[in-house]
Amino acid sequence: MKNRPENFVPPYPAWELKLPSSTWYVQCQVALQFASGCRDDSLFRLLAEYLSSSEGLMHYERAGHIDVQGAYNDIAIAYWSSEESMSKWLNENSVKLLDSIEGKSGFWYEALAAPRTHFEVSSSTPEADWGIFRHFDICEQRDHAYWGAMRDRISAAEKDGLPGQLQTLQPLPVGERSEKEIPLPGNLCMIRTVQGYSTASPDERNAYQESLRLKYEQGVSYLDANPIQSRCLSARLLCDEQPALGRPDTETIAWFASLADLENWVHHHSTHKAIYASAQQYANRFAPGMHLLLSHEVAIVPQGKGRAVYHGCHPDTGLRPFLK
Ligand code: HEM
Repeated sequence: MKNRPENFVPPYPAWELKLPSSTWYVQCQVALQFASGCRDDSLFRLLAEYLSSSEGLMHYERAGHIDVQGAYNDIAIAYWSSEESMSKWLNENSVKLLDSIEGKSGFWYEALAAPRTHFEVSSSTPEADWGIFRHFDICEQRDHAYWGAMRDRISAAEKDGLPGQLQTLQPLPVGERSEKEIPLPGNLCMIRTVQGYSTASPDERNAYQESLRLKYEQGVSYLDANPIQSRCLSARLLCDEQPALGRPDTETIAWFASLADLENWVHHHSTHKAIYASAQQYANRFAPGMHLLLSHEVAIVPQGKGRAVYHGCHPDTGLRPFLK
């Protein structure tokens, strides 16, 4: 059964993609970590060369994140056309890359593949030109503007489907945190949520910076600082390298123990409530001509379809404090 109320008419439009049922969502963050906080562009060029040689790579986007220990994480968010081509790159080329950068930076990746029944995408504007939106035709979305709409857009999640396998969440002692590949527990939930305002009018941009942005950053800081309460294992706030029409200025990539845990924070926590209230005020002021890009991809990762590695990285990186 769907959550959508009977005869519901969304008060505003939103967009998604025309996706064949055979589509898989195959994404991997591949990153260099600099403990000093300063990145080395020549090393990222090397990473980009290795990535570009990969058969089946659709594209990558570069974004940076300063983490809890002050390290700079220079991240390529890469999309592949199949899990096989991503795995081939991870198994072969990423190992060669690691040899070339050894001792110059840390290296990590967080990789996932999810079938069409396990992911959804959404956008506030039809110009979305990031992530998987770059590769398929856009169309108007039917199910949005009510809590539970995200679940309605993920067919396998109907009737409380896709429960998380990870039950107890407890930080591992630092000495037990793995340098080896970590298999992700079944139905871990990844969200990539982006915000783009660089092509909005100066008025709209200023309003975003002065009101919404603060609420947004407070929400992500809460998740980052409270993994046990929120059951959000990792929340990374990133700055994008190439803002443009339909592309992000900032984004968050977060991993929740399950789809239900993501919903719990979004529907019930004061920090997302504050973001939502601020977004409503913003929309009241700028809709219907609003140009702010608010868009996301949510994927629930079947067991065996997610993996992560942290090599030469500090022990608090990404999922490492909780999984081995
Ligand atoms: C500037 C930051 C943000 C703004 C303005 C914002 C605003 C909103 C709005 C207006 C909705 C309702 C959308 C609809 O169905 O029409 C929504 C839903 C949602 N938001 Fe946020 N949000 C922000 C940040 C975040 C973050 C950081 C996360 C997660 C890490 C998140 C996760 C979600 C999810 C999963 C939904 C769908 C809930 C459902 O349909 O049940 N949001 N947000």
